[in-house]
Amino acid sequence: MLIKNGKILVENGKIEKRDILIENGKIVKIDDNIMATQDIIVDASEKLILPGVIDVHTHMRDPGLTHKEDFESGSKACVKGGVTTFLDMPNTIPNTTTEENLKLKRELALGRCYCNFGFHFGGSREDNSEEIKKVNKYVASTKIFLNMSTGNMLVEDERVLEKLVNSSKLISVHAEGDMIKKAINLSKKYDKPFYLCHISTLEELELIRKAKKERVKIYAEVTPHHLFFSEENRDNLLRMKPELKSKIDCEALWQGIEDGTIDTIGTDHAPHRLEEKQEKIVFGIPSIENSFEMMLKAVETGKLELKKLVELTSTNPAKIFKLKNKYGISLGADADLIIIDLNKKYKILRKDIITKSGWSPYEGMETGGTIETTIVRGNIVYNKGDFYKKMGEEVRYDD
Ligand code: DOR
Ligand code: ZN
Ligand code: ZN
Repeated sequence: MLIKNGKILVENGKIEKRDILIENGKIVKIDDNIMATQDIIVDASEKLILPGVIDVHTHMRDPGLTHKEDFESGSKACVKGGVTTFLDMPNTIPNTTTEENLKLKRELALGRCYCNFGFHFGGSREDNSEEIKKVNKYVASTKIFLNMSTGNMLVEDERVLEKLVNSSKLISVHAEGDMIKKAINLSKKYDKPFYLCHISTLEELELIRKAKKERVKIYAEVTPHHLFFSEENRDNLLRMKPELKSKIDCEALWQGIEDGTIDTIGTDHAPHRLEEKQEKIVFGIPSIENSFEMMLKAVETGKLELKKLVELTSTNPAKIFKLKNKYGISLGADADLIIIDLNKKYKILRKDIITKSGWSPYEGMETGGTIETTIVRGNIVYNKGDFYKKMGEEVRYDD
């Protein structure tokens, strides 16, 4: 495949026109003018080409809760929204806390995903550290819930926590408020890297800033919804863990992005069907379909630079979770790319939503552009509203 005349981000943060040559799913040449001897030529004139989004925080609900989402519907929403790799969380039914359940999940995802996928294993209060040791190589991290949330996976016992942490290579945590302190202390005590999911307050940021200065091995994630919405927007639909916070917290999160305290954007795509949300309070919102185009809006309005957006959504996630061959737009990298029309903005409407949840927190809002084409390892999987082959492959991890 040869992609002609697209605009890419080059080293100094400038945008320049380049051709990209892809062979066997990998980027093999990036140049001003590559001769067209290829069978598939994609014209990307006037379009922006970025590395596909790597969303390391998703709840695809498969198995057990597939009326909310499944690997097929969720990955479809991914490629429409510019995501070429997602990592799935373990609070499914059954929980992904045994090698056998991981195997089951892997089999379910295989052949059903439009984009690449990977899994977080779950830490269990019953102490599954022996299982963790067995699967470490094949998972992104061990996810531990330090607060109660959807899925009832809270771990409180200190001795169990110690064993879970010690047997993991990297720990992702759902930790809110004081539990952030606890996560930082665990990281220090056992000398293990921690990935702190969905930071939502100024206080949490301060703790992280301080710990990073002390060189504690921690990484911080923010979700688009905690950036775009505050507690004034809270209604029955906009309920999630952590809950929406104050406007001051929102601004602090944008600041945390700017000063480098925040490392990644993860969507925390946590779909529940509209009827379920209307019936009673259930925590979690769908977001993978619209998050990136909304982040493009933030670039348009000057909230962050495009270069920063790419770091947060692709470069840093790949580095933190050591995803093999996910090096962005560079020689030898997997050709996971998105072609974007920044001039084509559109209003997000419920009728256009394709995730099984059937709604979007961004309804009525205007995007900052349109994902026109999504390419997964050199294959067009999405183009202008049409979906093609399910090219998703499980990610691998560098040692
Ligand atoms: O709001 C949330 N929903 N927060 C979580 O931590 C879990 C998620 C879910 O799985 O629904
Ligand atoms: Zn969480
Ligand atoms: Zn989550």
